[in-house]
Amino acid sequence: MSYIEVEYPADKPAFYRLLAEQVRLYTAGEGDTTAVLANAAAAIRQAFAQANWVGFYLVKGQELVLGPFQGKPAVARIGFGKGVCGTAWAQNAAQVVAEVACFAGHIACDCNTHAELVVPLRRADGRIWGVLDMDSTVPGYFTEADREGMESVIRLLPEP
Ligand code: SME
Repeated sequence: MSYIEVEYPADKPAFYRLLAEQVRLYTAGEGDTTAVLANAAAAIRQAFAQANWVGFYLVKGQELVLGPFQGKPAVARIGFGKGVCGTAWAQNAAQVVAEVACFAGHIACDCNTHAELVVPLRRADGRIWGVLDMDSTVPGYFTEADREGMESVIRLLPEP
């Protein structure tokens, strides 16, 4: 399958409708979790011009372990309750961080990152099986509308 360039609209509802279509397009029919998450990370990264890192951490025992991502090499393991990702897991709630320097315990992977959005991936029974992590060099880049939008997009991803 080849990637078809699309132009993302500024209007958030339209943006998230198109992003959902794109994620569906590049993951549909694939049953392998690594392949699905790799293409989802790539499709999401294409949509956010100012995201410098987009990827997944997957729950393995008491840790989140690095999964498919787009961006610079990153920390491989994050403990329960640690950093922004581990906090999203422990609190069972998405985290919208306007300035990571102000988030106690933030784990820095790229010193150019300012904003972060972390959204838990939930099974049908509500248990968390991973998180989507998005970083940006622009302070305040992610908003509540993005949290809501990304929560709807990741619901398209099949639980492993
Ligand atoms: N900043 C994250 C760690 C992962 S990197 O951003 C890719 C955190 O505090 O959990």
